[in-house]
Amino acid sequence: MSFKELVNLRESTRAYMDKKVEREKLELCIEAARMAPSACNSQPWKFILVDEEKSVEDVAKMVYDPMIRMNKFALEVPAFIVVVLEKPNITSKIGGIIKGKDYSITDIGIATEHICLSAAEQGLGTCIIGWFKEKEIKEYLKIPRGKEVPLVITIGYPKNEEVRKKVRKDLKDIMSYNHY
Ligand SMILES: Cc1cc2nc3c(=O)[nH]c(=O)nc-3n(C[C@H](O)[C@H](O)[C@H](O)COP(=O)(O)O)c2cc1C
Repeated sequence: MSFKELVNLRESTRAYMDKKVEREKLELCIEAARMAPSACNSQPWKFILVDEEKSVEDVAKMVYDPMIRMNKFALEVPAFIVVVLEKPNITSKIGGIIKGKDYSITDIGIATEHICLSAAEQGLGTCIIGWFKEKEIKEYLKIPRGKEVPLVITIGYPKNEEVRKKVRKDLKDIMSYNHY
């Protein structure tokens, strides 16, 4: 598969087969994240693989928000990858303060996409989730208080084989040469 094909194959999967994901496949996704670039090679991340039946069921309830009917599909997800934001190294932190940028959250985004692309290559579907009950997930997974959970990723075998057409802005609307 070419890179272009892989990028096109990756989409947010919101319907999964009732099939467990092999741990080797989950670990390959994390290996892809491990190789991701980060500011000052800080690698400010940890990934919690949630794949045991009871834990998956409980985390799903913290991802589904019945009030606004958001992420209901999470109730039928076979596994989650919970992304933990760790403290950046001192150079990344100081650089970020000087430049007024939060490099860590950029790092997390890149690593997360590495996971999603690796999953797609292995025939798995993912959905990056930003809307979830962070405090509850932290307590449940025993994540220390000072840490953040910026994202949760759902992962499993997609129910539908067909890939949707991507809805995206036109190239001309997002790029320019030599000036804004
Ligand atoms: C930071 C971030 C947070 C997201 N949060 C959610 C979410 O809570 N629920 C959801 O269903 N999709 C969520 N998505 C998926 C986006 O809706 C999706 O990537 C976008 O619509 C493009 O569609 P595609 O991923 O199928 O190409 C999130 C994506 C990102 C990058």
